[in-house]
Amino acid sequence: MALAALLLAAPAEAADAARGQALLANRQASLCVLCHAIPGAAAHLQGDLGPDLRGVGGRMTSSEIRQRLLDPAQANPDTIMPAYGPRDGLIRVGRQWQDRPILPEAAIEDIVAYLATLKDE
Ligand code: HEC
Repeated sequence: MALAALLLAAPAEAADAARGQALLANRQASLCVLCHAIPGAAAHLQGDLGPDLRGVGGRMTSSEIRQRLLDPAQANPDTIMPAYGPRDGLIRVGRQWQDRPILPEAAIEDIVAYLATLKDE
């Protein structure tokens, strides 16, 4: 009974910070490093169009980070950062992006879990 309750309470797949770190560092998969500096990546591979993500876990809560990934235009209507969540109403979308978000929800959760661990500048 207690075990069944625990199993029901567990998310289908827990967010994995290590997987998030790998995704973040993969410029083809997530694009993040085109615009952001992250810990540990070679300097010439890091963009500076967006803020340095070191220490972001100290500046923002997990839900603020998630919201930023899903809909960056909420923080800045003119943002150049792509929305990683599902989007409605887009009309000129490359075929490979049609009807699907840039990253699946589980990948976004992995990235949020990793960024939340970045507390040091
Ligand atoms: C095309 C450039 C671009 C890409 C790609 C991009 N971002 Fe951003 N991001 C920005 C800019 C610019 C800002 C500053 C706020 C704004 O103008 O939207 C920002 C802000 C943020 C912030 C808030 C940071 C702070 O300290 O205020 C987070 C967190 C973030 N981005 C995470 C990500 C992650 C994670 C990815 C990849 C999944 C990503 N971004 C991809 C450009 C980008």
